[in-house]
Amino acid sequence: MDIYTITILLLVSLLTIVLAVNTYFPYFWLDLKYFCELLQIILRYLSRRRRTPNFFALDRFLEQTATHPDKLFIVFGNERYTFAQTDQRSNQFAHALQSQPGYGAGDTVALFMSNEPAFLFTWLALAKLGSPAALLNHNIRTRSLLHCFSCCGASVLIAAPELRDAVEDVLPSLTQQGVTVLLMTDHCPTPGILSFTEKVNAAPASPISRSLRSKVTFKSPAVYIYTSGTTGLPKAAVVNQTRLLTALAVLSSNGVSSEDVVYLNLPLYHTAGFVIGFIGSIETGSTIVLRRKFSASQFWDDCRKHNVTVIQYIGEVMRYLCSTPKRENDREHKVRLAIGNGVRAEVWREFIHRFGDIQIREFYASTEGNVGFVNYAGKIGAIGRVNFIHSTLFPFVLIKYDTERDEPVRRHDGLCVPAPKGETGLLVSKITDIAPFEGYAQNEEQTERKRVRNVLRKGDLYFNSGDLMRIDQDNFIYFQDRVGDTFRWKGENVATTEVSDILTIWDCIKEANVYGVCVPGHEGRTGMAAVTLQEDTQFNGRDLYSHVTKYLPPYARPRFLRIQGAVEVTGTFKQLKVKLVEQGFDPGQIQDPLFVLDDREKSYVTMTTEMYNSIISGNIKL
Ligand SMILES: *[C@@H]1O[C@H](CO)[C@@H](O)[C@H](O)[C@H]1NC(C)=O
Ligand SMILES: *[C@@H]1O[C@H](CO)[C@@H](O)[C@H](O)[C@H]1NC(C)=O
Repeated sequence: MDIYTITILLLVSLLTIVLAVNTYFPYFWLDLKYFCELLQIILRYLSRRRRTPNFFALDRFLEQTATHPDKLFIVFGNERYTFAQTDQRSNQFAHALQSQPGYGAGDTVALFMSNEPAFLFTWLALAKLGSPAALLNHNIRTRSLLHCFSCCGASVLIAAPELRDAVEDVLPSLTQQGVTVLLMTDHCPTPGILSFTEKVNAAPASPISRSLRSKVTFKSPAVYIYTSGTTGLPKAAVVNQTRLLTALAVLSSNGVSSEDVVYLNLPLYHTAGFVIGFIGSIETGSTIVLRRKFSASQFWDDCRKHNVTVIQYIGEVMRYLCSTPKRENDREHKVRLAIGNGVRAEVWREFIHRFGDIQIREFYASTEGNVGFVNYAGKIGAIGRVNFIHSTLFPFVLIKYDTERDEPVRRHDGLCVPAPKGETGLLVSKITDIAPFEGYAQNEEQTERKRVRNVLRKGDLYFNSGDLMRIDQDNFIYFQDRVGDTFRWKGENVATTEVSDILTIWDCIKEANVYGVCVPGHEGRTGMAAVTLQEDTQFNGRDLYSHVTKYLPPYARPRFLRIQGAVEVTGTFKQLKVKLVEQGFDPGQIQDPLFVLDDREKSYVTMTTEMYNSIISGNIKL
């Protein structure tokens, strides 16, 4: 045989193998590609870990600034900042903070701000000073705010001017604790609140000495991000320097590069906005188009105006975009990639159909958890895929779950039961050195609640994700529901116990049972409460409305309320809740007085059948 015949034979057999692999293992190449990417990320991470002095996420930003100082980094309305300008501005923040009595390098500082460039400058400044940042949710007020502030041991609060009222509400307690309160404004008349902006403007833009952060190690906390857990007030999840360094890869591993323009409209106090959008763009050197908050009507105009190529979403975002009126220019934009979490299969299809060929990268991860997936195969509706390598590195299992008793099913020997393919189970992932669970700041009890022991073997230890999943025959993973006393609404987790605590501190309410109900056409569940009243009291919808709006952020306010004569005593608490959830908010099914929160009337008003129908048909927006 001559060389040509051999080559042709070789090519033919290669082709046959490729075809066979494609037929019998349709996802083989995608799995392989994903594996190679994973390997690359791990290698890059390891080489960074070996560098001296220590290399942190901040150092990647400084590296980017040194390589292309004049590249545009942040766009916000009409404001634009290059990498160099961002660097200099954050130096000013750092110098101003450093000369602030009450602050010492390394102290934890809480940020109470909505999305704006100052948020990013402050974080960079804190990183330069070796200070962890606590990213407070700017919707929280009073008790929650104090709790979130205190539980990370912060000594300084930096707040946006529009949140002055909320700060004043808690000022006496903060002053008592000796907290330094800084407001991003030129002048503040309130005693105890210091204006900070003119100090920043007057500060030099010179670099910050590395020695100020010499104490920072890979184990040091970098940011605290708050998550609503199964019970009680929000918990501070610790993101340490190691974790932030690994998080750098989130956008680059999805093919985002320095040419890309990333549209960041999700809140910066959450992982999606901060870690994926901001930290991810530091790694890639992309331009960030920052927006104060998501707006469905402005979304595509913004994308067109700024040549956005990458968007971020949560399930609700996609749904809102699909429900805006159709426009001629729906497909005129440069968006090529959408990264996010929680889009339903039907919304995914409609989105692509309407807005064009945009690649959707659905992923699953939690701030504090130790397991994550990404749907690199683009399978509609899935959040990820079981992959041999992934499951070797990060062992996880779906276990059978008893939703009535709200706990994993256990065999007589005490071990859990893996859910077979196609069946729903609770996602738990093994806690190991490379998949650690950091726990919550100063909250051992809550930390312990997220641990599951004796899962597959006596003495083993897993992280309880609190999420129910299903794996199909092709090994794709689908999100099903959350367990326990939380529900998701407008992209936020709501802890039912926190809401019922707030309801019962109102004089009139004796007991409150809070749960989430499904509303057609909406992601997640909206809050509902079944309450009993104190004897000899009269229900006043207006008073309750002002109480609820004072203490709870909009997404956590119970939208529906039913007043029960007495709490039923048959069955367990959980079974009762299941029944309440089933009855939902349908006045046809409920004899109890039924109310709906009405923002225009500023009251809880009686729910009528017409209102119910309008909500179901989508004529009343929730
Ligand atoms: C922080 O990072 C280290 C790795 O450098 C990790 O082992 C540790 O568990 C993390 N968490 C804490 C709280 O130290
Ligand atoms: C967007 O791209 C167009 C064409 O490529 C260019 O003319 C325009 O200046 C760009 N706009 C921005 C804000 O970069």
